[in-house]
Amino acid sequence: MIVAPERIPVRTPGGSYDVLVGPGLLRVVGGLVKRLAPGARCFLVTDGNVARLHGPIVEGSILDAGVELFVATQNPGEASKNWFEAGMMMELLSEAGFGRDSVLVALGGGVVGDLAGFVASVYMRGVPVVHVPTTLLAQVDSSIGGKTGVDLRHGKNLAGTYWQPLMVLSDTSCLASLPESEWRCGFAELAKSAFLAGDAETAGLEASCEQLVAGDEETVRAAVLMAAGFKARVVSGDEREDCDREQLNYGHTLAHALERELGYGTVSHGVAVAEGMRFAAALSARLAGAAPEWVQRQERLLDSLGLTRGSYDLASDKLLAAMHADKKARDGKVRFILSREPGQWSAVTVEDDILREALDMWRQQGREGS
Ligand code: GLY
Repeated sequence: MIVAPERIPVRTPGGSYDVLVGPGLLRVVGGLVKRLAPGARCFLVTDGNVARLHGPIVEGSILDAGVELFVATQNPGEASKNWFEAGMMMELLSEAGFGRDSVLVALGGGVVGDLAGFVASVYMRGVPVVHVPTTLLAQVDSSIGGKTGVDLRHGKNLAGTYWQPLMVLSDTSCLASLPESEWRCGFAELAKSAFLAGDAETAGLEASCEQLVAGDEETVRAAVLMAAGFKARVVSGDEREDCDREQLNYGHTLAHALERELGYGTVSHGVAVAEGMRFAAALSARLAGAAPEWVQRQERLLDSLGLTRGSYDLASDKLLAAMHADKKARDGKVRFILSREPGQWSAVTVEDDILREALDMWRQQGREGS
């Protein structure tokens, strides 16, 4: 059965574009690039794992469209998201004679998208990039909204730009090959998006958990559409995180601290975000008037998505120090996105003594597995 892709518009001062969501889009990358950028040469950025799975289809579609193609394949993983790789890629672009007529195509997950987007934003002071996200996390979050970046020694994404893509092509059929840990990363961001979007979206996700965890294609497609649509609305209203976009950090303050203290890659981003959401919900009950039923509702949804609680051998003070080092901290204070109920949020500065107590409680609950 051929399913026509859904089109989600993103409209920002930095660029307007469509996010297409549906199965089979990998086969039409070349034709769509040619239509949007006639005469362009294509520089495809991917990683070794994605290249094995999806490279031939995408490369074939670009060549079949009569577009000149150059392929740069990175080592898979966060370690590739650095200055050196970005610089090497720009050297490759210039050696191969790519000019302003280039289009970068980022085929892969968040690492490939952030790195290729960053290179596209600075090479020749900016060339177009098309995102072709192949992970659930990238389809529901990182490919939309134009954030690009590389990691520095002191943390993730500490250098970056806003660079809106020419187009985002989310082929939901390529998610079937994802490993379990990648599904969980995407599930955590899906849960976050549903809670922030509102009661109907939360109820929809609750009702579809079983099929989602089983990887049912239509359910996955509907969930990607919900989250991508929500993100598109938020970034269209606030491209540069001056106000509304900040809500997307819900669950991420503790998540970043956990990842930093445990070592990147030791805990998956999805598991860390789920822990961060539980922590933010507990803080929301204390500081933002969230009802216990709502906190429980979030707990149940995360559990149903396989994002169960963990126990971490980390002192509260270490986590607190890592939160202070976060680039979102302001004037030496840690800021949290809290939520009273689905669809509502506020950015709140939280004092250290409250955070320390809440962290002790969160660690205790983790040990008890509740
Ligand atoms: N991932 C959060 C944002 O794009 O703002």
